[in-house]
Amino acid sequence: MCGIIGYAGNKNPMPILIGGLKRLEYRGYDSAGIAILNAKKFYVQKSVGKIEQLVKKISYRQNIEGGVGIGHTRWATHGKPTLTNAHPHNSCDNKIWVAHNGIIENYKDIKNQLIAKGHKFKSETDTEVIPHLIEEYSKKGFDFKKSVRLAMSDIKGTYALTIINSDEPDKLIAVKNSSPLLIGITKNGQYFAASDATALLTHTREIIYLNDKEMAVLNGTGYQIETISGQSINKKIEVLKEKEESIQKSGFPHFMLKEIFEEPEAVENAINGRLIYKEGTAKLGGIETIKNELSKINHLTITACGTAYLAGQIGEYLVEELSGVSSKVEYASEFRYKNPVIKNNSAILAVSQSGETADTLAALYEAERKNCLTLGIVNVVGSSIARQTHAGIYNHAGPEIGVASTKVFVSQLSVLILLALFLGRQRNLSLTEGKKIIMELSSLPKKMRQILKQAPLIKKMARKYSKFDNFLYLGRKYNMPIAYEGALKLKEISYVHAEGYGAGEMKHGPIAMINKNFPSVAIATTNSVYEKMESNIEEIKARNGRVLAIATKGNKKITKLADDVIYIPKTLEPLEPILTVLPLHLFAYYFGVLRGFDVDKPRNLAKSVTVE
Ligand code: G6P
Repeated sequence: MCGIIGYAGNKNPMPILIGGLKRLEYRGYDSAGIAILNAKKFYVQKSVGKIEQLVKKISYRQNIEGGVGIGHTRWATHGKPTLTNAHPHNSCDNKIWVAHNGIIENYKDIKNQLIAKGHKFKSETDTEVIPHLIEEYSKKGFDFKKSVRLAMSDIKGTYALTIINSDEPDKLIAVKNSSPLLIGITKNGQYFAASDATALLTHTREIIYLNDKEMAVLNGTGYQIETISGQSINKKIEVLKEKEESIQKSGFPHFMLKEIFEEPEAVENAINGRLIYKEGTAKLGGIETIKNELSKINHLTITACGTAYLAGQIGEYLVEELSGVSSKVEYASEFRYKNPVIKNNSAILAVSQSGETADTLAALYEAERKNCLTLGIVNVVGSSIARQTHAGIYNHAGPEIGVASTKVFVSQLSVLILLALFLGRQRNLSLTEGKKIIMELSSLPKKMRQILKQAPLIKKMARKYSKFDNFLYLGRKYNMPIAYEGALKLKEISYVHAEGYGAGEMKHGPIAMINKNFPSVAIATTNSVYEKMESNIEEIKARNGRVLAIATKGNKKITKLADDVIYIPKTLEPLEPILTVLPLHLFAYYFGVLRGFDVDKPRNLAKSVTVE
């Protein structure tokens, strides 16, 4: 959701900014723009739609020898995705250009005050007040840095900003508050600002993560980092480990398919080095320091958004079943605004791929304010959520580029199993049970690869069902959230109506919709609730509904009930979701492709939801 790239150095900023914007495309956007400043001359271009549209409008041959530049992909919040609303935005005197990710909450008041002072606005965005506000301070005689600082003290809201100013043409100022922003540095005078590290991988691996209310001043000869109030700070330089291939399609037609095929590896990466077989438990370095506190907790709230929330739903069941610690999953967007009761000896666990989801971060702030122990399961190292929590576990799933989360979902499930196992072994879970879980968890990647071999069959199923526009996904217990996830994926990338439901609730509503044109996907694996699922399937069939079932290998009986069956290998019931979700991810992928959609960048969706 909105991507920012900035550059200061002696190379032509144009291809660097365009390359960076392409790398940020996956975050979700609907317009894009750049502003470059070289020898007091600005080169500005914007376009609606994909980066290719922007590229068509500019010439790479424009020989700009160094300078500063800012680029932006905009995901519309205030005002439609039009050329006028696209960033960067400028001041009345055209000297100051700004790209912004976040929301300026008091922009209406500021805008009115600025209009009263004679400022003219062109766009409907909240962002446009920023260059005008900086201009106002510059007119009073403050230098660029001081004017930015004063402007920041006037605005309320969230922001990652990159700002250039032709009065001080060698500088790029980057400021952060709640929205993600990091700085990339090199040894040869190239400096970058970006929303995330994937945009910078081809240029540098040396990164400085900005904290909230910090700003960086970059130019071709160096960088300075200060707080917004002007205190200079020494920041640690982190070195990224991500491989360049992890952000390439590597022969796959889409990132989504590549990432589904990486699901077994995502499980391996989540569990590798973390299983202690002889003790039947997990070794989780990130929570080692708080293990005593964890042995005393009697409640765990899990909070997250989107697909991560669905992983959290399974986490709730896992924690209760394996450890006996009471657990509840809550939408972060709800948790942050209600008045959550936080009892002594409880903890909150935020689950987030990006580590930047605004609601999840805000839920953590709320929990922290109430003195709750905060934990995280996060994929992006150094992200805001990772830094906000007291302790946490990284997924190590590598970058996920497809907007719809797939490999990180199974990685989140794997880590949740490890955490539940760890809490369980601190309490009453027996060594034998612990060992059984470890053995089975280790065998999952192999079983997942067997499911992936069925991709051609699943593609055939997707073709068979691709004529339908409504779907009901049903599951029980551990597979109820998988029914939600299957439906969510189909809806996200195919734009068909799909509803996930707890099968036990089917009779309380959804059954009214069933007919021959309203198929159901039923997760009916051989487990403690299999017979119940079988009855649900019978009920659908009695109403002429079609059923595509996900069943356990060896269950021949189900072929007589369901219209179509996709088999998965047998595993322990709490681990089943890691297997049952795989055919549903593939089904959604093929369905979306067959309908002709860009499955990696579904319309209106953003990978990283950095505004609420
Ligand atoms: C967006 C993405 C989803 C993701 C959700 C939560 O909606 O499109 O794929 O599950 O945000 O994101 P997080 O980064 O916190 O896991």
